[in-house]
Amino acid sequence: VSESRYERILDLCKRRGFFFQSAEIYGGVAGFIDYGPAGARIKANIINLWREMFIDSFPDLIYEVETPVITPEQIFKASGHVDHFTDPIVRCPSCMRFFRADHVLEEQGIPAGNITEAELMSYYDKGVKCPSCGATLGKPERFNLLFKTTIGPYEATTGYIRAETAQGIFTLYKRAYEVLREKKVFGLAQIGRVGRNEISPRQGPLRLREFTQMEIEFFFDPINISCVAQFENLLAEHLTLLTEGSQKVVHETVQEAVNSGTVSNLYMGCLMALGQRFLVQLGIPEENFFYLEVPKKNLPHYSRQTWDLMVKVDRWGWVEVAGYSYRGDFDLKSHAQHSGEDLSAYRAYDRPVMKEKVNVTWDPKVLRGKYGTRTGEIIDALKLLKPDEVLEGMRNGFVVAAGQKISISDLTIKAEVEKEYGERFVPHVTEPSFGVDRILYALIDTGFMEREGRIVLRVPRRVAYPQVGVLPLVKRDGLDALAKKKVEEIRRYGFTVTYDEDGAIGRRYARLDEIGVPVAVTVDYDTLRDGSITLRDRDTWNQVRVKGEDLEDALCRFLRLNAQLSELGTPFTSQGENT
Ligand code: GAP
Repeated sequence: VSESRYERILDLCKRRGFFFQSAEIYGGVAGFIDYGPAGARIKANIINLWREMFIDSFPDLIYEVETPVITPEQIFKASGHVDHFTDPIVRCPSCMRFFRADHVLEEQGIPAGNITEAELMSYYDKGVKCPSCGATLGKPERFNLLFKTTIGPYEATTGYIRAETAQGIFTLYKRAYEVLREKKVFGLAQIGRVGRNEISPRQGPLRLREFTQMEIEFFFDPINISCVAQFENLLAEHLTLLTEGSQKVVHETVQEAVNSGTVSNLYMGCLMALGQRFLVQLGIPEENFFYLEVPKKNLPHYSRQTWDLMVKVDRWGWVEVAGYSYRGDFDLKSHAQHSGEDLSAYRAYDRPVMKEKVNVTWDPKVLRGKYGTRTGEIIDALKLLKPDEVLEGMRNGFVVAAGQKISISDLTIKAEVEKEYGERFVPHVTEPSFGVDRILYALIDTGFMEREGRIVLRVPRRVAYPQVGVLPLVKRDGLDALAKKKVEEIRRYGFTVTYDEDGAIGRRYARLDEIGVPVAVTVDYDTLRDGSITLRDRDTWNQVRVKGEDLEDALCRFLRLNAQLSELGTPFTSQGENT
């Protein structure tokens, strides 16, 4: 075969309806893909597995929300995306093409994945050739990746397509905190489409301009971090970590990685362990993933620490399928400042504390007599004085307001001791952020096998679509009618199913293998006689015979509990692969 494995995968994806170029009939636009009947459902199954593992496994702790894709400008101003969500772009003065400046260097063998702005510029100062026409490229600039739109008719308000689902979560935080009766620790998850106007998306299905994210913003009190009960079973799980500057992967339990400070907080560590479990459920071998610490100099503007979950794919090497960031209080603080709303939570003290309170008042006429037109400004500043500043002022004989020394004798100060039961604080956030499209590609890449000149797609049984193929041995003598009844029966058991009666049985098995249908159910003359039925395993091509009344149990064990086919019935050899 002359095509590369990658080309054969793309061909399969197109031919069998997993994914393909979007707007194909108009020539397509880079960075957008369509999912066909098989791909759309496998993608939905991946999302459902994530939902089950990251949300439903944590009742009363992690909740799902949904916010709009189109987002008013203020939100992305506050989040820092309008100023910081940029990539370096460079233009060729000769052929006028645009390129991503760091990618051009990488294509020329310069490792530019983690270089700083200054390092990037220094390469371009020396002159970098255009990958298209060979002319010397210009100087890189910053290009903002937000897709801009307008909200409302005519000119109206500027809006953006969200570049991460996270911001919708931060902006509804206040409401969620109330709805959840001021919970101390909780996560809000969102699954949805995002848009990024990538400069030159070349990595096929891996770098898209529109894709689906699955994110959790996990809110917690940074000075009261203790393991929530539902996370306890994750503490002893081993994480595979490549820390900044290290050449070697280490395996540490969540507890060890947090204790040693390698992973910045316990919730991050536990959710990282869960991410590994998720990949294992998706059939990604353990040697094909690890967490890579993002160097400090390359951290996103909101992050204090980021770990990228890397998965190996044949064509592109290590690919980031998820980013885990410790966002601290960056987002809530910034949205509180920009919106003027209080986005804090309440922390009760273990026991009430006595706090000295000072109350400052003044006679405006006295101040006006002394400070004239500056009085308003001075009063505003007096209102903002902190208790410590007033207490110090009492010692010094004056306070400073709007740069002016104000004598204590011009103020009335009452100091009282009050009992306080708690205080307000801005919660910190740990965020796992998964890209579904990259995960789907990794799954297809991992599962793509070739056997005896045929393609077998070993996608995990949990996420395969359809899960069962029903085939009559031949299309006559009532076998077809009986097989159609089986389709209905299997559907009632809760499995997705497809029926195929066209062509030799071997060819039909091959068609099912190509789209990764885990099990085929074959109806033959013995089925007519005694109700027994054949099950065929996509991965081993082995067959077993089960009694009609055992079909539901056999399918449940095979598809939901991952049982071996040989445990489900008696070995059977008559319906060959090559017929
Ligand atoms: N809220 C944090 C955030 O959005 P990110 O690392 O920019 O973090 C998270 O994105 C995940 O989204 C990535 O790990 C990747 O799986 C996916 N992703 C990012 N850009 C992508 C693109 N252009 N095409 C496809 N998936 C992408």
